[in-house]
Amino acid sequence: MALLSSLPSGWLAYAIAGILIAVIVRLLYRVRTDPLSHVPNAGLLAPISRLAWAFPHEYRGTITLDLPKLHDKLGPLVRIGPTEVSFYSLDAYDVIHKAGSKFEKDPRVYGGFVQDGHPALFSITDPGEHARRRRLMGQVYNRSKVPLLEELMLHHITHWTRCIARSPQAVDLPVSCRALEADIISDFSFGTTVGAIGAWANGGELAMVAKNDELASWMPVITNLPGLWEKLESLQTCLATITGYQPALWRGLGDFVEWSHNSFNTLTKSKGEDAAINPTSGFPTLAGTLTRSGLPALTALAEAKENMGPGTDTTSASLAHVLWALAHNASFQDELYRDLKRVGFSTDMTTLEGIPRMRACVKEGVRWAGAAAAMLPRVVPQGGVELHGMFLPEGTILTSSPIWYLRDATAFPNPDEFNPYRWMTPDATELRQDSLRDKYYIPFSKGANVCIGNQ
Ligand code: HEM
Ligand SMILES: *[C@@H]1O[C@H](CO)[C@@H](O)[C@H](O)[C@H]1NC(C)=O
Ligand SMILES: *[C@@H]1O[C@H](CO)[C@@H](O)[C@H](O)[C@H]1NC(C)=O
Repeated sequence: MALLSSLPSGWLAYAIAGILIAVIVRLLYRVRTDPLSHVPNAGLLAPISRLAWAFPHEYRGTITLDLPKLHDKLGPLVRIGPTEVSFYSLDAYDVIHKAGSKFEKDPRVYGGFVQDGHPALFSITDPGEHARRRRLMGQVYNRSKVPLLEELMLHHITHWTRCIARSPQAVDLPVSCRALEADIISDFSFGTTVGAIGAWANGGELAMVAKNDELASWMPVITNLPGLWEKLESLQTCLATITGYQPALWRGLGDFVEWSHNSFNTLTKSKGEDAAINPTSGFPTLAGTLTRSGLPALTALAEAKENMGPGTDTTSASLAHVLWALAHNASFQDELYRDLKRVGFSTDMTTLEGIPRMRACVKEGVRWAGAAAAMLPRVVPQGGVELHGMFLPEGTILTSSPIWYLRDATAFPNPDEFNPYRWMTPDATELRQDSLRDKYYIPFSKGANVCIGNQ
């Protein structure tokens, strides 16, 4: 009151009242004409600002865990921003993600993954360009090519298991698994490894691997406040030029840029015709194959770099989860060991796929880990769409996460439990059929953008 009475009364009071009325009228007008006003709100702030509503969830990194609970209360469609709607519905998932879908990837989010201005398969948003790139990539990701990768994988797995056996202390599973996968994926992409297993075995996680993972936690800032992120980037460039000091995050990311450019140049320059071939395995490298197929060098390089993210974190998180589960059930582990012994510890993929316990264990591990714990936002195309009786206009962002369906209690009773018997008969001699379970099992998403690395 003291403050108010000390203000010059009269014109200022009128001005403040005027502004307040204008703001309220504008808000009311927006609410009345708001095409999404019929969709239940995730919270009071959701219709006004996506960030204002989501910030506490994004900050804690729990948005994909909190949203399914809201859907339980509010139904299959929940509004999470002025123009953004979250959906938890397989029917909607099929409409939005089907092959040939006109729902494009949200450029605001996927743009954050673009490397050096050259969109790659994961970050391309135009469906036509995406389909062309996908055909090109099929050359190395095709199921028929996977057995050719056996040697490459075995080479790194052997190195990794030797390091584990030699390790004097208990092993930090997520970190060591990430090192294994980072070496496999970098070798697959560039024909040479980032050297992650070696670094981890010598007592330190490789900065470029750890920092690439850390970058994921900055994603909310990169996508919601791209201007702020750019300022942070230029600020650190300034700081580095003046003082020579570089924060660990940027040093790690910089290491990877340098490593990938050098590896790409070695691969494409020095070996000419054989550029596409990996020296350890004789398998075509991703970067080399794409270059040889006529992609511009910088695009092939971006594709190989971008592959590290979706290829490393997903597989390593899944592997770490399976190993953790096995470590907590010695009898199941023994049974699996006996199965593998029976086939002479074969590493042939078809043989391994023929062991029900092995298949069940991998399927359940991939489900239980839910490694692709992200929202996959898509843009409603021209003409809008009607879902669950609600019309959503063109330009609305529709978003869902594959992991919700993997932990859906109707398809997977006691969803939080690692239980390989969901997939096989009690005596483990056969796989068990269950169409509801299979319908909800979408760890690799489905349709147009189904994971290309799923084989
Ligand atoms: C358990 C392991 C994995 C899981 C759970 C997984 C999950 C997924 C999911 C859910 C998507 C769809 C993303 C979206 O629509 O935005 C995706 C796409 C993708 N994944 Fe995977 N992934 C795995 C392993 C891999 C591996 C090993 C690679 C590469 C070697 C890879 C490369 C990609 C690429 C390039 C895309 C983009 C595909 C496209 O948009 O056409 N993934 N993955
Ligand atoms: C894999 O190769 C087969 C046979 O060469 C082909 O018919 C199929 O379309 C390919 N799949 C992909 C995903 O490229
Ligand atoms: C461990 O595995 C055995 C045999 O497969 C199974 O019967 C048992 O329920 C499992 N125990 C736990 C705690 O998951």
